[in-house]
Amino acid sequence: MTDLARIAPFDPAWPELITDPYPIFAQIRESDPFHWSKHGYWVVSRYDHVREVLMNRKDFGTGDFAANLKLFYGSDFDVLANSGYRWLSEVFIAQDPPQHTRIRGLVTGSLTAKRVRALEPRIKEICQELTDAFVADRHADLMTQFAYQLPVMVICELMGIDYHTPEMAELIAAIPEAFVVFEARKLTEHELATANRRIDELEAFFRAEFENRLAHPRDDLLTALAQTGTAADGLTIHEATTVAIALFGAGFETTANIIGNGLYLLRRHPDQWDRLVADPSGLAVSTNEEVLRYESSLVATYRTALGDTTIAGHPVKAGERVLTLVGAANRDGRKFGDPERFDIARGAADHMSFGGGIHFCVGAELARIEGRIAFEHLATVLPGLKVDLDKAQWRANFLFRGLTRLEARWG
Ligand code: HEM
Repeated sequence: MTDLARIAPFDPAWPELITDPYPIFAQIRESDPFHWSKHGYWVVSRYDHVREVLMNRKDFGTGDFAANLKLFYGSDFDVLANSGYRWLSEVFIAQDPPQHTRIRGLVTGSLTAKRVRALEPRIKEICQELTDAFVADRHADLMTQFAYQLPVMVICELMGIDYHTPEMAELIAAIPEAFVVFEARKLTEHELATANRRIDELEAFFRAEFENRLAHPRDDLLTALAQTGTAADGLTIHEATTVAIALFGAGFETTANIIGNGLYLLRRHPDQWDRLVADPSGLAVSTNEEVLRYESSLVATYRTALGDTTIAGHPVKAGERVLTLVGAANRDGRKFGDPERFDIARGAADHMSFGGGIHFCVGAELARIEGRIAFEHLATVLPGLKVDLDKAQWRANFLFRGLTRLEARWG
């Protein structure tokens, strides 16, 4: 286990958090549950504390978005002059009621359970098309050839974007470079400049898509979002563009990494892969939930105290930020029996990987359907799958946890 002296004060830039954050998470959770980070925010890690913060909409929210960022950059920094941060400040994930309530309501009214469930047959077809393209090769990089392609194709299908549009490769590459603005630290000049440019590009693309949908409505999510604008408090084109970038990016970035993280785990625990292969349809749902619990693709989120308050009796002052370590909460032995054991039949769906409270993930149902179908399909079509663990590389980001490549072969 990591040396305690190394733990305090927490810094999301520690390289150990990229390779394997769980020993550090365990140390903080067990020895310093209300930890003060190097960057001047609280770090909470126990399941009950993370849940308490995320469920408490009265005392915790976004608060003053610019002030939160100035904590990292200094008081002279013009936060909203940066497209990346200006965009994030306008996304409903970074807003408090009543703005959050209005936008989220319009989004969930368009991204309905019916629309999501209707995609299930197409998701199965996409899985088949993807594996058909490489199964005879007996090897593939499953991150680029499957894990990313599946949710990208699905979110395009849902939004009504042509997956074969020439801009697609750039749009996909833009998301991780733009989403770095979620990180709880000061970005390098290069990172921030790239994020700003990427948000400008994404906004230009989606604005054009919305103008097209208003002129030529179709049966797709972008049309549904655009058409909310016909009502008095509907989405403006600018708001719809902001939302669309969030849905597009969140729609594949996190889901792709759950598929990748799952394949990695199933190789590290071959007995669990054998169990899944023996009963793919029976175990796919609980496999997906256990991957979400054990190796979430979003390991933390954060809130700001809206007034003086407490977390399990621990005082937090108005304006102080709190990093909630979802990944640490998911392995809290106070909540989950034998939490370090990866058990695909555990059947625990009450992990914190989709958050909780008013910001609970709007894409959870879609992500669950995609993950379940992907694991069932791969265990059925590639039962002899062997993932090369030595070549697997973790991305250099703290919040979004996933692999850049995942070489695999089969007989
Ligand atoms: C396995 C995949 C996914 C994971 C682990 C995940 C995780 C999360 C978490 C933890 C939150 C709450 C953040 C907070 O409270 O600060 C969240 C919110 C959100 N997610 Fe997901 N997500 C996933 C898939 C998706 C998908 C597929 C979509 C879109 C289609 C999506 C769209 C969103 C949006 C828009 C929010 C903000 C909701 C709000 O603020 O009210 N997510 N997600």
